[in-house]
Amino acid sequence: MDSNLHKHYHDEEFDPKGLLDTFFCDENVPLIDENVGFPLKKLHETFSSGRVRGDTLIDISSGASVYHLLSASDIFKEIIVIEFTEPNIQEFEKWLKKDPGAADWSYAAKAVCELEGNREEWQVKEDKVRRAVKQVVKWDVSKDNPLDPVVLPQVDCVLSLWVLHVISKDRDAYRRNLRKLTSLLNIGGHMLLFGAFNMTYYKIGEHKFFILSYDEIFLREALRDAGYVIENMDVLPSRKGCDMLDYEHLVYVTFTISYQRAISSKRKFTEPSIQEFKKWRKKDPGAADWSYAAKALCELEGNREEWQVKEDKVRRAVKQVAKWDVSKDNPLDHVILPQVDCVLSLWAKQCRKVGAQLNTGKEE
Ligand SMILES: C[S@@+](CC[C@H](N)C(=O)[O-])C[C@H]1O[C@@H](n2cnc3c(N)ncnc32)[C@H](O)[C@@H]1O
Repeated sequence: MDSNLHKHYHDEEFDPKGLLDTFFCDENVPLIDENVGFPLKKLHETFSSGRVRGDTLIDISSGASVYHLLSASDIFKEIIVIEFTEPNIQEFEKWLKKDPGAADWSYAAKAVCELEGNREEWQVKEDKVRRAVKQVVKWDVSKDNPLDPVVLPQVDCVLSLWVLHVISKDRDAYRRNLRKLTSLLNIGGHMLLFGAFNMTYYKIGEHKFFILSYDEIFLREALRDAGYVIENMDVLPSRKGCDMLDYEHLVYVTFTISYQRAISSKRKFTEPSIQEFKKWRKKDPGAADWSYAAKALCELEGNREEWQVKEDKVRRAVKQVAKWDVSKDNPLDHVILPQVDCVLSLWAKQCRKVGAQLNTGKEE
């Protein structure tokens, strides 16, 4: 389908309440069990499984929606919401402040409480979301630095529903935007992404809006090429009950940063780290001070006074500092090292997390 035939969300005056009323808030809306029911069920499964945890979740880009934050608020103490349009932000903030005339999310809140076995009242659940949302930040994906001037931390979970295919006018843009979306993800963190296969438009009233069409092959390739490992992919075939939208399947994919990408993002630190280490070995002025660790070890060994002796022992024992690059076929290049009796690796915390994903993603 020619993309020029349809309006683009980001180029038009947009009525946020119109979008909510058409697709998300009214239980009589056709296909609401797909548009809202599918994400609610999948997010409930993800968060209740315990696989995805952390302190902070970032939602990109939320529109004026609330439904997808309901289960997340059980796990994450802090939710940061990112949104592009001012009207959407205002609509969302109306709901946060319980303003009269704010959107009614009771359908979704009740559905989540039901999935959870009515653990709490739906109003309590909504208030939990209100308390968890700590920040609403504006972004524009067409900028090189979409969040400018705001700087956000990398977090353990990034969530994004029905966004990439709206903001990307072609497949190259989709790949670029995918990287922007995931730049806020920690190594070891999870990205939870909802989209649709073979969708070309959605309608609000008489207006048709553009959606970038792609299929499962493209999505898998885009994720792999960008350095991600798919953890899980679920698809829901459409019942095609109305002409308001035309997807063939909804898709929910969870993924993490691959081991290779995690390592290569560290590569830029390698040379300075080697220099720093050599400074310490030569006792250069301004070298890092490891006395705390040396004293702690001597104390463990019952001899606190000897910490400088312990450090000198390390200096004498280090015979070689070899540079490596794990992205190469031969990471040590021309250096040939013998096989040894013990190999030690101390960014184990992150590697173990990523390594665990490696196994399930079968990308060794
Ligand atoms: C269909 S809405 C999805 C909203 C929400 N995630 C939901 O599930 O209801 C598409 C989102 O893309 C955002 N968007 C459109 N153009 C954008 C741009 N240039 N930069 C950033 N976000 C944009 C909109 O503001 C909106 O939040």
